[in-house]
Amino acid sequence: MRVAIFGATGMLGKALLGQWKDDDVIALGSAQADIRNPDQVNAVLGQAKPDWTVLAAAYTDVDGCEINPTLASAVNTHGALNVAKAAARVQSKLLFLSTDYVFDGKKGSPYEITDERRPINAYGKSKAEAEEKLTAILPDCCIVRTSWLFGPGGKCFPDTILRIAESRKAIEVVNDQRGCPTYTLDLADAIAKLCRLGSKGIIHCTNSGDCTWFELAQEIIRNAGLSTTVKPTTSDKYVRPAERPKYSVLSSASLNSYGIEMRSWQQTLTNYLAERSRSNAEIASSLSNRA
Ligand SMILES: NC(=O)c1ccc[n+]([C@@H]2O[C@H](COP(=O)([O-])OP(=O)(O)OC[C@H]3O[C@@H](n4cnc5c(N)ncnc54)[C@H](OP(=O)(O)O)[C@@H]3O)[C@@H](O)[C@H]2O)c1
Repeated sequence: MRVAIFGATGMLGKALLGQWKDDDVIALGSAQADIRNPDQVNAVLGQAKPDWTVLAAAYTDVDGCEINPTLASAVNTHGALNVAKAAARVQSKLLFLSTDYVFDGKKGSPYEITDERRPINAYGKSKAEAEEKLTAILPDCCIVRTSWLFGPGGKCFPDTILRIAESRKAIEVVNDQRGCPTYTLDLADAIAKLCRLGSKGIIHCTNSGDCTWFELAQEIIRNAGLSTTVKPTTSDKYVRPAERPKYSVLSSASLNSYGIEMRSWQQTLTNYLAERSRSNAEIASSLSNRA
């Protein structure tokens, strides 16, 4: 199978390249093709002629999208449509990465794939519009919604918490947003399986279990063996440009119907933190050898 990955330089993209071993993978960052430019997108897919195109490229800065909704729409909606049209032209299947932020967070029980999209911020709107319009171009495209990504090679919540905790005795973290943390390596494995299985339609794909950002921070600090106190707070005390859904837990039923089960977010966090401290130790030792 030949697979073209847009967004290969991003956090998930790097995990896809690392995990996806058995197929012929073509890695594309914005230097190879800016998805806002249909000619560039047509040229790379015309040359690659992939069986599958995985679209992980996006403008992912949620507050940045709120401040610059024109850019959010240009990359996340129109860029996605450029990729879909080019994929259709070379008869490639498409797997599009989307988000829990297509929902408003008012449901209070896990979101199913049949639940109506009701985004409350510009990032969510740009992704929700892409989802709707992609299906018109490629009715069989696969839309994988995921959430709260963490992993190596990107800016992620565990890294931020550990960096802040180094210099503070106590930190405050919001306890009124609930979602599903997801390890990029696990998601990458699931995406490769979904492509091999010829999946189509909307699929919710996250690690299992859910928590608030406060509960996640507590687990990070506990796991790292730090003594920093984590205190719960509320979103209204930390006003940011974009509103976040209060509850964006995604039901795993659609993923399970493909025979794929995901580990708990606690297990994956333990893996990630162990891997992170191993690679930090390796960097420290190679620096001391060089000195
Ligand atoms: N992070 C999360 O918590 C989260 C949650 C739910 C869903 N998702 C979705 O999962 C996917 C992967 O997210 P991520 O966190 O791995 O993203 P990321 O680390 O922010 O990486 C973004 C990727 O998009 C590429 N990109 C940005 N603008 C582009 C453009 N105009 N043309 C071509 N490529 C462009 C970047 O390429 P360059 O670096 O080469 O510029 C980079 O490879 C995204 O679709 C995102 O919406 C993420």
